[in-house]
Amino acid sequence: MCGIVAVTGYKKALPLLINGLEKLEYRGYDSAGIAIINSETNFISCNKAKGKLKNLISNLNDHNIPGTVGIGHTRWATHGKPEVKNAHPHTDSSGNIAVVQNGIIENFQDLKNKLEEEGIIFNSDTDTEVIPHLIQRELNTLNKLNLENNGSTLLVAVRNVISDLEGSYALAVLWSGAPTSLVVARRQAPLIIGLGEGEFICASDTPAIANFTNIILPMEDEEIALLTPLGIEIYDSSNERQYRNPISLKVSEQIMDKMNFKHYMLKEIYDQPQTAKNWLENYLIKNLDNGQYQIKYPFDTEFFESIERIEIIACGTSKHAAMVGSFLLEQFSGIPTNVFYASEFRYSPPPLLPNTLTIGVTQSGETADTIAAIDMEIKRRSSIEDKKFKPNLIAITNRKESSIGRQVSNIIDICAGIEVGVAATKTFFAQLLSFYGLAIKFAQIKGNQSPDEIGKLINELIKLPPLLEDLLHKHNKSSEKLAHDFFNIKDVIFLGRGINYPIALEGALKLKEISYIHAAGYPAGEMKHGPIALLDKKVPVISIASPGEVFDKVISNAQEAKARDSYLIGIAPECNGTEIFDYLMKVPSSNELISPLLNILPLQLLSYHIAAHRGLDVDQPRNLAKSVTVE
Ligand code: F6R
Repeated sequence: MCGIVAVTGYKKALPLLINGLEKLEYRGYDSAGIAIINSETNFISCNKAKGKLKNLISNLNDHNIPGTVGIGHTRWATHGKPEVKNAHPHTDSSGNIAVVQNGIIENFQDLKNKLEEEGIIFNSDTDTEVIPHLIQRELNTLNKLNLENNGSTLLVAVRNVISDLEGSYALAVLWSGAPTSLVVARRQAPLIIGLGEGEFICASDTPAIANFTNIILPMEDEEIALLTPLGIEIYDSSNERQYRNPISLKVSEQIMDKMNFKHYMLKEIYDQPQTAKNWLENYLIKNLDNGQYQIKYPFDTEFFESIERIEIIACGTSKHAAMVGSFLLEQFSGIPTNVFYASEFRYSPPPLLPNTLTIGVTQSGETADTIAAIDMEIKRRSSIEDKKFKPNLIAITNRKESSIGRQVSNIIDICAGIEVGVAATKTFFAQLLSFYGLAIKFAQIKGNQSPDEIGKLINELIKLPPLLEDLLHKHNKSSEKLAHDFFNIKDVIFLGRGINYPIALEGALKLKEISYIHAAGYPAGEMKHGPIALLDKKVPVISIASPGEVFDKVISNAQEAKARDSYLIGIAPECNGTEIFDYLMKVPSSNELISPLLNILPLQLLSYHIAAHRGLDVDQPRNLAKSVTVE
């Protein structure tokens, strides 16, 4: 879950690497480092720092490393603590080879033991350090075959080494023996090559490339490439040279601009009315013949007719969106639906059932558990001859050019634009909208709802953008004030029922991940079965009470909390029953099915303001990363 960047060409490497790393810092910020082939000496110059990239930049202030070929890394610690010795790049014993890696080398301990037996001394606790040592050993062997010191020899050495690696990785390698060359390789971790004129950049994600070029070539799984200023050579796992056309990057989608907001997260919360407008424009199409709206997803939906059940696979916030989706698909469209944590699905998948649609939800499109779970599902279904078991797949993602975009052909692009804040906000909102679209589509195809009911839901969706604007306008200041009173609390309980239960979970996740305050979400009716023991006047309860099926029940559950002296915050419209709340974060009255789209905004704002009030790094909370590319 780290970010890697590598350049070769004719421009100075250092600023290109730093610029790329700045754009990748969301992937991890435990340490950062760079290695450049010094063009005067051909030696590798390596610099690393613990903590954020700014520490590396200030270390480098006095350094003017001449050189046009280099690699950089921003780390999210897996093996080994966040310390300078564990920061990448890692080198071999002679310092002639430098490697940056994103992923996990599962058999590193065996490899390390063997290398240590051969007398190699390790300087870090990382899994990555085995790679430069193995490459060095391989180059020594190739040397005996009288191969020249050039990029092709490095390519052969790296290829031989990666065939011994187990796990997933994206890596970039420098060798002082081939000072204009770079070798990059990937397995189950992303790598994209940006093509300039006489210069190339390779990075874990497109924002690192956007300032450099808008012509990209995403590497496929198991590919390895040699990059020199003269061109690139890409090979697949069978060592077949690959030729394919590059594609264009929509630069507008990659631009990071905080505008006048203090943090990206606040800006992204404020982007949500526009996210709703984008979704309506992209996916809601009026049929001019009958005046009815249709959901226009960019794939053939014939297979929808045969679908009898749905399984959804996701992690974290995406799982919460999937839970709202599951509610809609079952209760509105009438299709039995199950949601799974990707990390659990991989090791305890449900028995295979026929005519199943599998939906993967991931804003980054790179979450290792989700990708692996979908991969497993494709394999297990493809191994059965009966057509009823064939894989039917949809992916809901913000990055259609990502790993899931290459794995699944039916993509719902949530079109949220780049999200820089590590805590997902507008991408969650856009994932929710995607599920409303799917639920409407299924209800239309399966005839489980009357056109009237479907029309009502669509009309509520159309009305969203101004309601969201208004919500933000009303709640920004008031939640800042509320945050002032609550920034020192230790525990918070979030309650919701029915379609708003996942919103309670998401409210709690947002608060804990950015403010480090303990928070837990429960179905409101479950509180009396245990969590109620936690309540006293020091534990506020935030209760989502949307008028509809479960409103009265939620209010009486809130009453139970009040009887235990908890301060009660309500997320609800002002109506009979809500006077029970000590503080009411008013949301507009709506159809209960739509209410998650309104209720989430005040919860995001409250979490944001509490974290900002505590003076925390809201956009890059500790220990987290935007894209979790390790299992
Ligand atoms: C929380 C958050 C994470 C992600 C999770 C899955 O704010 O962002 O919980 O939702 O890591 O990420 P994606 O959606 O990229 O698969």
